[in-house]
Amino acid sequence: MKDYFGYTDKVCVVTGASSGMGKATVETLVDMGAKVYALDINPCNVEGIEKFIECNLAKREQIDEAFKQIPEHIDCFFGVAGLSGSKTDYRTTFDCNYTANMYITLNYLKQRMKSGDAIVYCTSTAGLEWKKFKKEQNKVVHAKTWEEVENVTRKIASSAPATFAYMYSKRCLSQFACEQAVEFAKLGIRINNVLPASTDTGMKQEFQDMIGSEEALIAQTGLAGRLAKSEEMAYPMVFLNSDMASFISGLDMVVDYTDTCLKVLGLKKNLEAVSATNPIICALAKKMMSKSTKNKALNPGKE
Ligand SMILES: NC(=O)c1ccc[n+]([C@@H]2O[C@H](COP(=O)([O-])OP(=O)(O)OC[C@H]3O[C@@H](n4cnc5c(N)ncnc54)[C@H](O)[C@@H]3O)[C@@H](O)[C@H]2O)c1
Repeated sequence: MKDYFGYTDKVCVVTGASSGMGKATVETLVDMGAKVYALDINPCNVEGIEKFIECNLAKREQIDEAFKQIPEHIDCFFGVAGLSGSKTDYRTTFDCNYTANMYITLNYLKQRMKSGDAIVYCTSTAGLEWKKFKKEQNKVVHAKTWEEVENVTRKIASSAPATFAYMYSKRCLSQFACEQAVEFAKLGIRINNVLPASTDTGMKQEFQDMIGSEEALIAQTGLAGRLAKSEEMAYPMVFLNSDMASFISGLDMVVDYTDTCLKVLGLKKNLEAVSATNPIICALAKKMMSKSTKNKALNPGKE
C-alpha cells in the first residue's frame, strides 16, 4: 500500500506530548511510522516513541537543552503544548503558548528544516478573531527574540488576569503563523494552524470552571452536540504536516463543527470579538477575579 501521508521514518517533534491532543498526535504519528521526539513538562508514556524529553517550554534554557537531544534535521514540528492560565501566571501562560513556539521556529526550525518540511501550531478558536486585532498583536509578533517579547508584554503581564493571556497568546500565534508562512514559503517549508473548539482533554475542567458548565463548553462546538475527542484535533494536525497537504500553507484550519458558520450567518453571537489588552477591560476583569477568589476563600463550597 502506498504511504500517502509519508511519515515513515520522519523526525517529528511534538510539544504537549503527554496529554490530550498532543498525546493523540504522538500515538497517531507512531502508528504511521514516524520517529517521534516527545517534549512535555510531564512524562509521556506512549510506546514506540524515539525519545521523551522533559522540558518546561516557558523556560528558554530548557528549550535549548531539549533541542540538543533532537536530531539535526527535523521533518515536522507540532507545537501543541498550551496552558489555560487558570493555574499559572500570565508570563508562564503567554510564554508556553506563544513565546516558545516563536523561539523554536526562528531559532531551530528555520535552521534545521529543509524544503518539503512542515510546521503546525495548535492555537484555539479563542484566537479566531486575530485578524481584527492585528494592531494589538503587532508589537509582540514583530519582536524576534525572547527578551523582546518579554519587554513588550511586561505591562500587560502585570495588569491583566492570567486567563487573558490565553486569548492574546493564541491570537499572536495565529498572526505569527500567517506572517512566517510567507517567510518560510521562500524556503519551501509549510506552516499551518489548527484552531480547536472545546475538546475533552486534560484542560477541559479548567475551561469548564471558567465558563460555568459542560453544556456551555458544548455550546462552543457548533452543531456537534458534544465535545471533540483529542484525536479529532490530532488528525487535522497530522494531515496538515503530511505529504497529503503539500500545497497547503498559511491556513487557519478551524475545527469547530460549524460554530463559525453559525456566527457568520448571524445565528449565534460572536463573544470572541473583544480586545485582549484593553487596560480598562483587563483591570476590571482582574478586580472581578480577585473578588471571586476572595469570596470562594471566605465561603468555600458556595459559588
Ligand atoms: N481542550 C480544549 O478545549 C482546547 C480548545 C482549544 C485549544 N486548545 C489547545 O490545545 C492544545 C493542547 O491542549 P489540550 O487541550 O490537549 O490540554 P492538555 O492539558 O490535555 O495537554 C496540554 C499538554 O501541554 C503540557 N504543558 C503544559 N505546560 C507546559 C509547559 N510549560 N512546558 C511543556 N509542556 C507543557 C501539559 O503537560 C500537557 O501534556 C493547547 O495548546 C490548548 O491551548 C485546547
